[in-house]
Amino acid sequence: MVPSRAARFFSDPGRFVSLSSLDIPSTSLEDYFPIDLKNIIPNSVVTFPVYYPVYRTLRKELLFARLLESGESCTAETIQFFAEKGISVAYVHKSSLKILAGYLEDTTRSCINSPHVSTDQKTQFIYRHAAFLVERVFRDPRIGHVIGDASKWAKIVGTFLQKDEMTPACLCRIFSKDYTTFTHSIQVCLLGMAFGAYLKWGKEEIAEFGVGSLFHDLGKIWIDKRILQKPGTLSEKEFSHIRKHPRLGYRHLKGMGAIPAGALEIVLQHHENSDGQGYPLGLKGREIHPLARVAHIVDCYDALTTKRPYKGPLPPYKALKLMYEEMRTSFDLDLLKRFIHFLGR
Ligand SMILES: [Fe+2]
Ligand SMILES: [Fe+2]
Repeated sequence: MVPSRAARFFSDPGRFVSLSSLDIPSTSLEDYFPIDLKNIIPNSVVTFPVYYPVYRTLRKELLFARLLESGESCTAETIQFFAEKGISVAYVHKSSLKILAGYLEDTTRSCINSPHVSTDQKTQFIYRHAAFLVERVFRDPRIGHVIGDASKWAKIVGTFLQKDEMTPACLCRIFSKDYTTFTHSIQVCLLGMAFGAYLKWGKEEIAEFGVGSLFHDLGKIWIDKRILQKPGTLSEKEFSHIRKHPRLGYRHLKGMGAIPAGALEIVLQHHENSDGQGYPLGLKGREIHPLARVAHIVDCYDALTTKRPYKGPLPPYKALKLMYEEMRTSFDLDLLKRFIHFLGR
């Protein structure tokens, strides 16, 4: 059965627009948050209204039409209907974000515990939930309760990783090869958590790593975008500006409270090198927090294997070769060897 509300809106094919094709002021979108429709479980009741943008060409006005009411069941047919229309993303009003966060937590937990869901699907669900958390915090870093939401997410994932295998191969299938701070944050987080499970960390430690690595580059919010996206070589002044991001993220997150101590050390120390040549503190070897030593390895690996404006992605074996042969003094060598072993399974 075709959903009546959605069908009504879609009966006029000119009404629904792709936002990317229009020159819409970003302020029109500020009150709405994008949600990947794959996050909605077929046949589940949504606990928040779901919107889709409607652009009135004559008035040059952007409106958000309600596709699903709170309490309405999102049937498999509805989802199929959206897919046929090429709609993969809808919007939730910012006043419902707390409810959406709770919905995602519940659905991630039930998806992970379901014997009918494949490991690949579970991994994708975990990834999309992480994307929601990262996007929220990068959009508005003042929202303190996102840290709590991320801690809950990391604990659910930590428990999952201790009993199910999230193999590097499974992760690589869904990882983006294009670098953005969002995808990089999620990828460092998930690959590092899976590595932690491989190292037999406890679930608290895996969760602590998860929160810290998810927000490890948060300080980049306060770094000039033109420098971050500059395709050419950076000047020493530009580099020193970028090198501020660990301290900026650390100060901000520490000020918000409720973040585990080890997670904070990841944010501050993920660019520290074992030989003391890193930043911001120039710590050496075992002076660097163990979770930050792991974050440093995974951070570097993800940066090398993804595409930047100034370089293509390296294949995994070339990235590891470079790290092992030319950058080995940067890392805890024992951890690096185990990371290589972990990736080669
Ligand atoms: Fe960083
Ligand atoms: Fe990073």
